[in-house]
Amino acid sequence: MHIFSTATELRRYLNTVRRAGRPVHFVPTMGALHEGHLSLIEAARTDLWHLGGDFGQEPALTVCSIFVNPTQFNNPDDLARYPRTLEADLALLEAAGCDAVFAPSVAEMYPVPAVLKIHFGDLETVMEGAFRPGHFNGVGIVVAKLFHLVQPDRAYFGQKDLQQVAVVKRLVRDLSFPVEIVRCPTLREADGLAMSSRNRLLSPDERRQATELYRVLTRAQSLLTDETPMDATRAAVAQHFADLPQFRLEYFEIANADTLQPVGDLQAPGTTALLIAAQLGKVRLIDNLVF
Ligand code: PAJ
Repeated sequence: MHIFSTATELRRYLNTVRRAGRPVHFVPTMGALHEGHLSLIEAARTDLWHLGGDFGQEPALTVCSIFVNPTQFNNPDDLARYPRTLEADLALLEAAGCDAVFAPSVAEMYPVPAVLKIHFGDLETVMEGAFRPGHFNGVGIVVAKLFHLVQPDRAYFGQKDLQQVAVVKRLVRDLSFPVEIVRCPTLREADGLAMSSRNRLLSPDERRQATELYRVLTRAQSLLTDETPMDATRAAVAQHFADLPQFRLEYFEIANADTLQPVGDLQAPGTTALLIAAQLGKVRLIDNLVF
């Protein structure tokens, strides 16, 4: 596995790969890797390229980036606490069959602070956009930078961050990046908790309670499937968290899975998303279901 910390080295290496005609599959991360991240590596590694002709069935080259991007943290404590486990991450990536890792420093990615502002329209005004002002500007800037450096043919993102998938798709469309965005399913712990780097910041007690997010999502899904009105479903979720003082519910939304805009009634199968965010102690958790 090749490991690069500078853009120059990365680009030199990827140029030779591309000259050999090999497509590039890319998985951007902030490290503190878990099985959710590794499932994206697996998707990238096993996703064959069907351009036909010279590419044939040759596997692509899988590149993973590890960079805790300061510009997407609107809360300095969250940035300071974010787990950093580079040595363990590299071992996991090597075992997962990743071909190359780009792990730059902040100075390498931001030699000067970025002044560009990206506003994602309606996507900024709901959920993560509303609760984390500036977050998607930071995601947009860093993903655009990484796409320029890696120039991937395909990039893999987790449904865990459903709104991020929509933001990245919008970025790609508006700025004409020649990359295909692939959305991969959320990996969960045995009790349903969505895997997340932040889970390791939970105390054992909080870890036991954290499963409430998924419990509530599945409960809301069955209420809606049983034709409970949306308002009553929202009220049931709010009441559930009102009885759990350890949690501070930020939002529970019923939205279109692609546009993330609130919906008034259930839509075609696979297009309605239930999205939730809550603060549990000092840790902020998010989750969603698409049904
Ligand atoms: P990070 O939180 O490290 O996540 C990297 C990728 O892993 C994202 O696409 C995320 O959706 C996916 N992921 C996280 N948990 C997952 C799970 N349980 N199952 C499946 N996929 C999961 O998201 C970011 O980093 C950053 O915003 C980034 C895109 C790297 C830009 O800085």
